[in-house]
Amino acid sequence: HTRYIGDWSSDVCSSDLDFSLKAYSHETHEYDVVVVGAGGSGLRATLGMAEQGLKTACITKVFPTRSHTVAAQGGIAASLGNMGPDHWQWHMYDTVKGSDWLGDTDAMEYLAREAPKAVYELEHYGVPFSRTEKGEIYQRPFGGHTTEFGDGPPVQRTCAAADRTGHAILHTLYGQSLKQNAEFYIEYFAVDLIMAEDGRCQGVVCWKLDDGSFHVFNSKMVVLATGGYGRAYFSATSAHTCTGDGGGMIARAGLPLQDMEFVQFHPTGIYGSGCLITEGARGEGGYLTNSEGERFMERYAPHYKDLAPRDYVSRCMTMEIREGRGAGKSGDHIHLNLSHLPEDALAERLPGISESAKIFAGVDVTKEPIPVLPTVHYNMGGIPTNYWGEVLSPKPENPNEIVPGLMAVGEAGCASVHGANRLGSNSLIDLVVFGRAAAIKAGEVVDSSSSNPELNKLSIDQAFDRFDNLRYAKGEIPTADLRLQMQKTMQEDAAVFRTSETLANGVKKMNKIASDVKDLSVTDRSLVWNSDLMETLELTNLMPNALSTIWGAEARKESRGAHAHEDFASRDDEKWRVHTIARFSDNANSIDLSYRPVIKEPLSSEEQGGISLEKIAPKERTF
Ligand code: FUM
Repeated sequence: HTRYIGDWSSDVCSSDLDFSLKAYSHETHEYDVVVVGAGGSGLRATLGMAEQGLKTACITKVFPTRSHTVAAQGGIAASLGNMGPDHWQWHMYDTVKGSDWLGDTDAMEYLAREAPKAVYELEHYGVPFSRTEKGEIYQRPFGGHTTEFGDGPPVQRTCAAADRTGHAILHTLYGQSLKQNAEFYIEYFAVDLIMAEDGRCQGVVCWKLDDGSFHVFNSKMVVLATGGYGRAYFSATSAHTCTGDGGGMIARAGLPLQDMEFVQFHPTGIYGSGCLITEGARGEGGYLTNSEGERFMERYAPHYKDLAPRDYVSRCMTMEIREGRGAGKSGDHIHLNLSHLPEDALAERLPGISESAKIFAGVDVTKEPIPVLPTVHYNMGGIPTNYWGEVLSPKPENPNEIVPGLMAVGEAGCASVHGANRLGSNSLIDLVVFGRAAAIKAGEVVDSSSSNPELNKLSIDQAFDRFDNLRYAKGEIPTADLRLQMQKTMQEDAAVFRTSETLANGVKKMNKIASDVKDLSVTDRSLVWNSDLMETLELTNLMPNALSTIWGAEARKESRGAHAHEDFASRDDEKWRVHTIARFSDNANSIDLSYRPVIKEPLSSEEQGGISLEKIAPKERTF
């Protein structure tokens, strides 16, 4: 018996039929490049590939302009110097310090050097940036961005389109990609990678959500641009679609994830809903107060104040609450004050968050403070890559070994440019710099004149097999219940502050939760708009991301960046200035952790106009 795509009756169980799983019929498509994900990095990669004449498809589970980049508010960092002196070397220094010396130096140099070029390209593509009086791109201050290698005053480096910068970038890149004849497969869910026996990636197996058909993409290069996994946590600024799909596919392909223990909490998520209030609000002059009305950041960070990096501000806010100075009836949040700012400035520079504050907190920002709380916002870890976006499978004999045919960019990837903590507005620039870099590299390594090799059928069958098992899952636990258990555990045990006890507890609980995947219950067997099944596939992607986060955090006996370990309060460069590499066995309860050296050498020396090693040598991170 065969199960055809038209078989979506809800009463058929896999045990009723002796069918061949290989019979899930599908259409095969051939491309030079397939990009999975249509956020900022996916679209910038797609555009760059198509501009070079590579036959390029972009597959996305949501309409491109609904990708999570659309929610990025405050801006994109680049040392344009429109508002005062700035240099890419200062940007690089701030990124190195922001990363708490865990970023790879070559990637951080590439980011800071290429940033101005990447932003001017966006301007020429048509991004409607806000403007200065002189008509130049407007730039605002953001946390951790300074002058004079940290010794000078804060710099205005963050290029903004009001507080809807991601929205502006996403719409522009989508239009430009269409103009270059990139082909879009919209509302297609990527189930799994197709891996050849020699370890090369050959393509991806997809499920089309609106008609239930299956599609196999054969491509010479696959680029994972699937975003982060904020939804492994209970309260996140991330969209519900941020389910770490790329990380899930990587783990199932036997490839590792890197530095997953570093999860960024944004200081200003709206209390209750978690909705983002941009750091640009503090960049424009907003400030935080505790229950006593005190501007407490002046005490913790006399130099940077409210514009200290996010990991630090989030910890200070948490300490204020813990010490009984939280605002509100329950003393469980902090106030963000904007009412002293001129109304026209709020309307021009911060219209989006003024509206969000009204909708999600019932607050008129011209009159009252916004109740805020540190909220999960960004994953510094992800799929290890070099600064060209090529995926790495580190081995002891070669920590920088490349997986042929596979790239990862944006929040899904880990270049590693943000190390242990990302500076605000370094995410949008990461998306476009590394999306662009991946396209440049693909232009060199993809031969568009050659034919695509035959696909590994076993790998395709395994993808369908997994899909079918989940479609007919007859266990006891509804997907939403298991997801909630995971989210609550991560929220409690891998939080702003961590201890040996919470982490050990978290590992134990997450192991049990992960093993319960085999007991999932899916009640809808259909193939058209089956959100029960889609959320189940997403949960199986979130799970390896969450597990590697808690395992990596439990093992790392130091504090660095976003990993604030109360039993090991200092940074230990001797032992821990290394990237965590997490590999999965078939049994989800067993994760093999190993470590890869941080790349300490920049791309160019001081004599070549680069930055001196002495300038970026590790030191205490003070603000
Ligand atoms: O606060 C914000 O606007 C967020 C920016 C970012 O995460 O880079």
